[in-house]
Amino acid sequence: MKGEWIGLSRSGSNPPAEREIELVCGDSSCAKLNGAKFDAVFTDPPYFGNVQYAELMDFCYVWLRKLLGSEMPEFAKPSTRHENELTGNVNMGRGLDHFTEGISRTIRHAVAKLKPGKPFAFTYHHNQLDAYIPMAVAILDAGLVASASLPCPAEMGASIHINGTGSSVVDTVFVCRSTGSFPKCWLASDAVGVAGIVKRDIDELAAGGLKATQGDIRCVSYGHLTRLAIWHLRTTWNMKRPVKERMKEVQDWLAAFGGVGAVLTSLEKTYSQAQSEQKWLMSGMVEESTEREDEVSF
Ligand SMILES: C[S@@+](CC[C@H](N)C(=O)[O-])C[C@H]1O[C@@H](n2cnc3c(N)ncnc32)[C@H](O)[C@@H]1O
Repeated sequence: MKGEWIGLSRSGSNPPAEREIELVCGDSSCAKLNGAKFDAVFTDPPYFGNVQYAELMDFCYVWLRKLLGSEMPEFAKPSTRHENELTGNVNMGRGLDHFTEGISRTIRHAVAKLKPGKPFAFTYHHNQLDAYIPMAVAILDAGLVASASLPCPAEMGASIHINGTGSSVVDTVFVCRSTGSFPKCWLASDAVGVAGIVKRDIDELAAGGLKATQGDIRCVSYGHLTRLAIWHLRTTWNMKRPVKERMKEVQDWLAAFGGVGAVLTSLEKTYSQAQSEQKWLMSGMVEESTEREDEVSF
């Protein structure tokens, strides 16, 4: 969007440009969204069960709460755990259908305030294609089309636990709209067609300095398959059915397409000869040595 900026005040602008910002700590599926309709919505939702945010955050929260608990209501509660936290969590009985219902409710809530044709964009990544089904259902429920699924390197700086594993460091940025257009070359009617789209992405990531691993290639493929499932199911989609039925329709479409297996097979050497694990070093990161240093005992 030409001239768009985000912030409280625009640095260097004359006369100074200012805006109102509202930060809310709460469940986004029922947040009060007052005021004018949105020009865009950008979000980074939970990636199903990848991270247990509240369990993890409680370690920091107990300290922050000591400092801020009496002044700020957001820090008053004894824990960050919340009944409406939207994650997959087997122990709490929160499976894929629970996640689907929650993410669908949240996206529909935001999209109800979005101007027609404007972008609803979010990032997503997961090692299993099944974890993309909730996102496809939610986008279809909201009456949107995924007009782009763009691979975007992420994670690396913060997630050293991914190094040496088969996980991906590439998120997909999904851009969804109620109406608009996208390049015809992003459509595919079979696995060979999707493989061609994925191959172009892999080449572009390589040109940008990221050598995609097998895990990365799988995630890039999941993104395109999800986008295409939404495209093909949009005209007959009926969101009034139970969540399990809606999920099954997406799952069946993906299976009939050959799943990710068909795409990876069609990618041939691009996939089979890619590295199976992440092997990168952050700049400034010291590689651990197995040799003992010359040490001083005390
Ligand atoms: C992928 S993370 C986003 C991380 C964020 N982009 C950042 O850089 O800190 C997803 C976030 O959604 C939050 N979340 C989970 N359920 C939610 C809900 N019902 N409403 C609002 N946020 C929720 C999680 O606590 C987590 O912070």
